[in-house]
Amino acid sequence: MNYLANTERYKNMEYRRCGNSGLKLPAVSLGLWHNFGDIDVLANARNILRLAFDSGITHFDLANNYGPPAGSAEENFGKIFKDDFKPYRDELIISTKAGWGMWEGPYGDWGSKKYLVASLDQSLKRMGLDYVDIFYHHRPDPETPLEETMTALDLIVRQGKALYVGISSYLPAEAEKAFKILKELGTPCLIHQPKYSMFDRWVEYGLLDILEQDGVGCIPFSPLAQGLLTNKYLNGIPEGSRAATHRGNGAIDENEVTEDKIARIRKLNDLAINRGQDLAQMALAWILRDKRITSVLIGASRPQQVTDSLGCLNNLAFSADELNRINEILK
Ligand SMILES: NC(=O)c1ccc[n+]([C@@H]2O[C@H](COP(=O)([O-])OP(=O)(O)OC[C@H]3O[C@@H](n4cnc5c(N)ncnc54)[C@H](OP(=O)(O)O)[C@@H]3O)[C@@H](O)[C@H]2O)c1
Repeated sequence: MNYLANTERYKNMEYRRCGNSGLKLPAVSLGLWHNFGDIDVLANARNILRLAFDSGITHFDLANNYGPPAGSAEENFGKIFKDDFKPYRDELIISTKAGWGMWEGPYGDWGSKKYLVASLDQSLKRMGLDYVDIFYHHRPDPETPLEETMTALDLIVRQGKALYVGISSYLPAEAEKAFKILKELGTPCLIHQPKYSMFDRWVEYGLLDILEQDGVGCIPFSPLAQGLLTNKYLNGIPEGSRAATHRGNGAIDENEVTEDKIARIRKLNDLAINRGQDLAQMALAWILRDKRITSVLIGASRPQQVTDSLGCLNNLAFSADELNRINEILK
């Protein structure tokens, strides 16, 4: 059946300005790293995307290698986009990336101009798009000169294949250099996409300060630590969960669900309940409490998880006492 978006979709979402740019992103964005590949059920993927857009999530994040197999998340998104979202293209911010291994030979990985330009051309074909809104370099490349990688991002914007550019997983010093080069080229960096959750707080030690100083937005990935910071692992590893399904490509496995983590998750869960939230909602609110964060980039294996996670927006404020208690638990 033809999809008609919910007419109330902009009522309950908060939109935050991305750094010093003119672009606003929803406080919660949806990523297609897992659950949108050929090993997944297309109808479920479609329902997740529809529910997200119906709830005001205007930003979908992809990469060339999402799936599995690599490329299939973009292809499946392309199918759903063609059926459902084409009339809404101008209401959507669609991003993709290149930087991890994608095809054989010396031109299908890292950060050369050859790889980035060719990869985005492939991504646009798979998704059936004329352009993406944001194109990222997915990870720093220790061998390619930063000038070459940043010049490739600038070129892609000048070619009209992306409107904005970003970088992902760059450490503070290398991010700062990249911002400077991009600024000189006339294509300022829109956004940085780092890993950030209660279980991984590295961005607090320098990166967020640099982003604020340079007017660059921040969209943390895996804010739920791939599902650990929810109530699903309180009693061990449930069947069908990401940790139980061996999806590969960086997905968590059983070894990461340690007794120590479960003990902390239980304490955090008690605290969340006291705040009138579930743990997923508290973990997302805890990231969004910092105004330097533009959006949290969640994943979901079913529509209900999106609805649940969006509940974080009902309470983003933390007392000093609550923050201290969280620091204690995470110590
Ligand atoms: N730039 C990069 O290098 C990079 C790397 C990784 C990810 N990313 C981006 O970040 C996005 C999000 O990453 P992520 O999927 O790891 O994020 P996440 O939000 O930390 O984890 C998502 C997973 O947690 C579980 N979950 C989500 N909401 C839940 C809820 N309310 N209650 C219970 N369980 C819930 C689901 O797992 P189950 O399958 O167990 O249900 C879901 O697939 C990706 O899609 C991608 O766009 C970027």
